[in-house]
Amino acid sequence: MKTVTTRGGSSSSFRISSFCSNSSSILRFFILLILFIFVFNFYSRRVLEDEENLNLQLPSHNDVVSVSVSQQLPDDNYKLWKPPISDGLRSCVNPTSRYQGVQGGDRYITLRSNGGLNQMRTGIADMVAIARMMNATLVIPELDKRSFWQDKSIFSDIFDEDYFIDSLKRDVRIIKKLPYELVNVPRARKHFTSWGGLGYYEEMTKLWADYQVIHVPKSDSRLANNDLPLDIQRLRCRALYHALRFSPSIETLGKKLVERLRSREGRYISLHLRYEKDMLAFSGCTYGLSDSESEDLRLLRENTNHWKVKKINSTEQRIAGLCPLTPKEVGIFLQALGYPPSTVVYIAAGEIYAHLSDLTSRFPNVLFKDMVASEEELKVYSNHASQTAALDYIISLESDVFVPTYSGNMARAVEGHRRLLGHRKTITPDRKGLVEIFDKLESGQLNEGASLQHLVKHLHEKRQGGPRKREGAPDGIRGRARFKVEESFYQNPYPECICKSKHRK
Ligand SMILES: *[C@@H]1O[C@H](CO)[C@@H](O)[C@H](O)[C@H]1NC(C)=O
Ligand SMILES: *[C@@H]1O[C@H](CO)[C@@H](O)[C@H](O)[C@H]1NC(C)=O
Repeated sequence: MKTVTTRGGSSSSFRISSFCSNSSSILRFFILLILFIFVFNFYSRRVLEDEENLNLQLPSHNDVVSVSVSQQLPDDNYKLWKPPISDGLRSCVNPTSRYQGVQGGDRYITLRSNGGLNQMRTGIADMVAIARMMNATLVIPELDKRSFWQDKSIFSDIFDEDYFIDSLKRDVRIIKKLPYELVNVPRARKHFTSWGGLGYYEEMTKLWADYQVIHVPKSDSRLANNDLPLDIQRLRCRALYHALRFSPSIETLGKKLVERLRSREGRYISLHLRYEKDMLAFSGCTYGLSDSESEDLRLLRENTNHWKVKKINSTEQRIAGLCPLTPKEVGIFLQALGYPPSTVVYIAAGEIYAHLSDLTSRFPNVLFKDMVASEEELKVYSNHASQTAALDYIISLESDVFVPTYSGNMARAVEGHRRLLGHRKTITPDRKGLVEIFDKLESGQLNEGASLQHLVKHLHEKRQGGPRKREGAPDGIRGRARFKVEESFYQNPYPECICKSKHRK
């Protein structure tokens, strides 16, 4: 038959006729058919994805956006709670084979730790490493009693003191009190420089020539985030994540509260809603507040001596992404991520300054400490902000999802610890990006619903606490200025304390 004229036509008619000739050819035909269907599908999906990506661009100008949603992904619910892929990366905090046994003999460092609970914890972990570098014995630190939180707790009220000493016994000698005969000898009172490195602390050992005791009045940020020996970095991790365990009574109540939260819906979000008076006054963020509320905050700022910046433009702060999310913004945010109204949201914070109902109207299962613990249980914690903060720490560490609304010491410490424990889900709001979105909602350029969901989900795809290396300083920042802007070691101890090792721990 020679009726077919085109090349393609003739070859296909040839194929079909030869396919029909035996059964193996039929098989080949079907394989080709399946391949064709697969390739076709692949391309059409690609086109779809590209369209979705287009929709994910922030709408510009004044047009109201109404993007039609593609149907909800079937695994959407699963994704809400699933931890990010950890890629076989896990905690590795044990010393290397080069590590020498405990040092520190008859030279002592005494220390007053400063700040709130988490600033003190990271400061103490740093001082453990510094004592090691300086070959000193560390005396159990005094805690800050004068900070904003006015807590009179001593070390053993908050931490398991014996466990702390014992678990670091191969690293640093730690004692509860300075030996009696040294209490009255002159001490070197030394404000160590901030972000010091190994060289700096080796230099500081010269002080031992003249003094047997060094007193350090401030512990925060005394140690650089980067460029320290691997064994020093791992020691910091052992100190913070293992040795600085909370006191047995705090641990016990913390675990109990976690169980009670779980018993409600199975899962819960811990929300570090840093919408507290001190934070708002300090940061100058008054968006959404009344004039009298703003004035109230301004006065607190003016009257707090150690807050150096007094004049703050709230609008500029907010646009730069430097304000904690408001209760209303958090509600919109969580809803846009897809969390249903029944979600249990634990508020890991002190007293919320204002407008909490803007959150509870969307998430009625918002819970505070006093809603999961009895008055009796909480009695011992009143006037002990650091101990209360420790409960929040435990509940946040164990939560299915942790959401910090501001990047403070607590947020960083919990995020890092969750990374170490197997990349538990931590959703870090992109505050700068969100402000743009919220402002579009406010002005009516964007509606709540499908398009908002797409924008918010897209913005946070890579902000779920999955493994990534700690970030250095942004390009162009040199010298000492870079130390301040590097990502905190304790926020992300990868690569030093998180690796692809076969051995656990
Ligand atoms: C550490 O200090 C002790 C005395 O306190 C001293 O005997 C020892 O040699 C020192 N070790 C190092 C490595 O400097
Ligand atoms: C604050 O900053 C915004 C944006 O830069 C500006 O429009 C506004 O006038 C400033 N407000 C004051 C009180 O300076």
